Amino acid sequence: MGPFIGLILAAGLGKRMRSALPKVLHEVAGVPMVDHVFRTVRDAGAKKVLVLVGHGGERIEEHFRANVEIVWQKEQLGTGHAVMCAADALSGYDGAVVVVPGDVPLLQASSIRHLVEQHEKSGSAATMLTMVLSDPAAYGRVVRDGAGRVTGVVEFKDASDEIRTVREVNTGVFCFSTRLLFEALPHVTNDNQQGEYYLPDVIPVLISRGHAVSALTLSDPLEGMGVNSRVELASAERVMRDRKRWEVMDSGVTLVDPGSTFIDMDVRIGRDTVILPFTIIQGSTSIGESCSVGPYVNIRDAVVGDGCKIGPFSFIRPGTVLADSVKVGDFVEVKNAKIATGSKVPHLTYVGDAIIGSGVNVGAGTITCNYDGYKKHTTVIEDGAFIGANSNLVAPVTVGREAYVATGSTVTTDVPPGSLAIARARQENKEGWVAKLKATRAAREENR
Ligand code: UD1
Ligand code: CA
Repeated sequence: MGPFIGLILAAGLGKRMRSALPKVLHEVAGVPMVDHVFRTVRDAGAKKVLVLVGHGGERIEEHFRANVEIVWQKEQLGTGHAVMCAADALSGYDGAVVVVPGDVPLLQASSIRHLVEQHEKSGSAATMLTMVLSDPAAYGRVVRDGAGRVTGVVEFKDASDEIRTVREVNTGVFCFSTRLLFEALPHVTNDNQQGEYYLPDVIPVLISRGHAVSALTLSDPLEGMGVNSRVELASAERVMRDRKRWEVMDSGVTLVDPGSTFIDMDVRIGRDTVILPFTIIQGSTSIGESCSVGPYVNIRDAVVGDGCKIGPFSFIRPGTVLADSVKVGDFVEVKNAKIATGSKVPHLTYVGDAIIGSGVNVGAGTITCNYDGYKKHTTVIEDGAFIGANSNLVAPVTVGREAYVATGSTVTTDVPPGSLAIARARQENKEGWVAKLKATRAAREENR
């Protein structure tokens, strides 16, 4: 397969999403749709990727930073006009260009490679990726001549009842010979129901100019699913989630109940880790080998070492780094905290903005009081320290190596290594107090 450039169309508003967010930035399995498409095009081997933006373009540009070349389409006059806007960016280039809509997140890199290969082999000016659907819905219908050659696409809104019965549809993905594409595009008109310049209309123009056009049909039509509404977004989400579950299990992770386990695309999990039901692992989280996670656990943008035990009902938030063999138990929230090897935070605790050493035990109900209403402060608990249950650690504060904090303490100043901090009111027992109380009450009753 020869080199090609990828062009992703992402300028549309996505009206049917009814959203303030540009359609292609809506996430599928934790990654924006347009990023899925970008990765697919890159993984297929594109030597360069252009992303065409318009609606919410600044946000898309910001998302990609320097990874792609951005091309602007100021006014959205249709997919044909969109490609025309990339003419300058592609001037002087005469290789293949693969055009992919930004709303086909399920497309696989291998399909793009097959498309480019077929394009080269057939010596076509344009090669269209199609799919056959039992319910072709509102997709553009592929029209073929008596010999089975593709002659064009009729958009659903422009299609007669007869054409609407066609089940082969356009995925929106094309491979073009760049020079021939830009020679033909200016001949496309907007004389149709939507008054738009349709990219597929370049096909009859190319044919009339004597060029060959071919098509490749996806073997798995799920890949070509276009996401135009929230309902379609949810369908794509289900497929992508399943792919990720499959990948994770294939790499040696046990998902006790795949259906109630949600793992974002960029999550990494080591082998022999067991994920128990009702667990959501998000963002760029990485989990080591031989851990037990769940049930009912939510982890986002965290790093978890090997042999950790997390759950049930734990909430692990961004910036958390757990070393090996750490235990985080029920109703524990950890945020932006480092916890070193073998430490335990077993129950009912908030650990935020903290650095916890190794071999530390944090008793039930401990709270790091990290926020004073203006700033967040750090709590440090050094190696081997023991925090008694129901303690408050008012940051900034340090509990020294192997120190003890007595149960129920509110610690406001540093605890030196090896010492015991007791920071609570001393207990006083009043002997015979209950008998006196009873006597007083009885006397009061008599006087009524
Ligand atoms: C398009 C195809 C249709 C195909 C379907 C597959 C056309 C005219 N129709 O329809 O044949 O079956 O995809 O999913 O091409 N975009 C721009 N600028 C524009 C218009 C669109 O960048 O001026 C982008 C959109 O952001 C989107 C993509 O092009 O990512 C496709 O546009 P969309 O409006 O979703 O086209 P469909 O109606 O789905
Ligand atoms: Ca679409």
